[in-house]
Amino acid sequence: MIQSNTFLLEVNDLCKKFNHIVALDHLSLQLRQEEVTAIVGDNGSGKSTLIKILSGSLIPDSGSIILGEKHYQHLKPRNSVDLGIRVVYQDLSLDNYKNSYENIFLGEELKCGPFLAKRRMALEAKQLLADLQIQIPDLSEDVGNLSGGQRQGIALARALRQEARLLILDEPTAAMGISETESVFRILRDLKAEKRSILIISHNLFQVFDIADRIFILKAGKCIGSVLTKDSSPDEIHHLIKWGA
Ligand SMILES: Nc1ncnc2c1ncn2[C@@H]1O[C@H](COP(=O)(O)OP(=O)(O)OP(=O)(O)O)[C@@H](O)[C@H]1O
Ligand SMILES: [Mg+2]
Repeated sequence: MIQSNTFLLEVNDLCKKFNHIVALDHLSLQLRQEEVTAIVGDNGSGKSTLIKILSGSLIPDSGSIILGEKHYQHLKPRNSVDLGIRVVYQDLSLDNYKNSYENIFLGEELKCGPFLAKRRMALEAKQLLADLQIQIPDLSEDVGNLSGGQRQGIALARALRQEARLLILDEPTAAMGISETESVFRILRDLKAEKRSILIISHNLFQVFDIADRIFILKAGKCIGSVLTKDSSPDEIHHLIKWGA
């Protein structure tokens, strides 16, 4: 009997070069439904490149992506959104010259006939930020003028506005202070309790052990190992990142 595919998403043998730089080198890994998966690895190990391939903003040189039952050689950005992949990018990808609610609805603006439904977007954004306990004093301020943590909050709210099949967070607390980091982790713990499927990239192994069920370790574009968090320790992962398997 053929077993049905229990993975939410698989990448097989992905390769990506930038001129002579090998960013991904036959990378294979699998994400499971209803799990929080972490990907860790040193700077330049290929983490963000993988995320950009999953969001359709980069095309791999070879390899494949399996989502549900379907095989893709690459995804287009619209594909990825339609398939329910929501990403908070490491660089946040916000429009600095637009305000908070315009960024939360960026590319998916609400309309009333031919016009933008600005009031509705502002009200919905305000409610979403309140639900997530993300504090932005003035929603009409350009996001370019907000703090790093506030900008990260806007990027997170944008990704969470619609239910995601897979939420991907690339260094979600990199620019945040202690209390902002704590509030992002409160949101992530709630999402985990709701059994949402999440992929998180973080250099902070204590955060990874706090939230993830499973960890993949990348080194020079390859996956050199995976562990269940409950069977491992930050020390073991640190050793793997530094010295390899
Ligand atoms: N657009 C690009 N052009 C050229 N080289 C790139 C590009 N994007 C990534 N690279 C290179 O590919 C490799 C992998 O980069 P990537 O951003 O995926 O690493 P990372 O694991 O996310 O690192 P970090 O932890 O610093 O965010 C690096 O050597 C990087 O310099
Ligand atoms: Mg990165």
